[in-house]
Amino acid sequence: MFGRHASSRSFVALALASAGCAGPQSALDPAGRDAAEIAELFYWMAGGAVLVWAAVIGLAVYAMAIRPRPHSERTGAVLIVGAGAIAPTILLTILLVDGLSMMPAVLAPGDDSTRIAVSAERFWWRVQYTLPDGESFTLANELRLPVGRRVSLTLTSPDVIHSFWVPSLAGKVDAIPGRETHLALEPTRTGVFRGACAEYCGSGHARMAMHVVVLEPDAYAAWVEAQRAPAREPVTARATEGAALFDAHGCGACHTVRGTAADGVVGPDLTHVGSRHALAAGTLDNDEEGFRRFVAHPDELKPDAQMPSFAMIGDARLRALAAYLDGLE
Ligand code: CUA
Repeated sequence: MFGRHASSRSFVALALASAGCAGPQSALDPAGRDAAEIAELFYWMAGGAVLVWAAVIGLAVYAMAIRPRPHSERTGAVLIVGAGAIAPTILLTILLVDGLSMMPAVLAPGDDSTRIAVSAERFWWRVQYTLPDGESFTLANELRLPVGRRVSLTLTSPDVIHSFWVPSLAGKVDAIPGRETHLALEPTRTGVFRGACAEYCGSGHARMAMHVVVLEPDAYAAWVEAQRAPAREPVTARATEGAALFDAHGCGACHTVRGTAADGVVGPDLTHVGSRHALAAGTLDNDEEGFRRFVAHPDELKPDAQMPSFAMIGDARLRALAAYLDGLE
């Protein structure tokens, strides 16, 4: 109703540049259709609030400046009913109708040829892609999406309520045990966008981030093919030693590495963990040092993480394990 799509682009860009609100995790720097709608509504509401504030302060200053004089009862009634009831009702109704008019667009489901199921665990995100041919693969703390296509996500949780929020792309939706909620994402530009759990879920809540990597359609298709494939064989002697240690210490009881005997489902699927944007739900860089630190002391890096510490196996073995995991691209 405000001619939303064209009118305030330049205003938004100007406001962003001056306020320093750009970045990979900003609802005011939208990279998705839904986030753009929400940002625009925010600017209209903020503008409306500024106008009302200016009017009220203006009246107060005026009242202080003039010499008090008696009003007729009629003038008083017009002021109270007009400015106290009618004006706010009209203003709030306009904002409500405008906000509600966004709902069909924001709630519209996406193309479901590829289904993405997100399960919020304590304290990471299990992400399962089911492809049009029925094949599926699982990853953690990361989604990759093609630019310009609207995709549907289903969300749930096995333990407590979490909330999935990637501010640059869309609004937030809770992941609720025993229920399935829905969200659609429609990225409008490529890039890496950060999301976070937006509902307090325990001591590891602040370390429950995820990344959404938006790719050109060709790059996305190549990524899907790479994810479908089983894990790479280790190529160096150290990584081969790491693979044997992974097996010997029972890591496969909790983690899956497709193509090997490891088929646990308690923890994240590690088949292509080396290719992900970050480690431990956005806590660490994805490199050998990151793997070494996390395997040695998950409890220190992420409070209440369910993975036990493996510091007791010693630094040399930790480095071998890290080399193996880092090679799982
Ligand atoms: Cu999960 Cu907060």
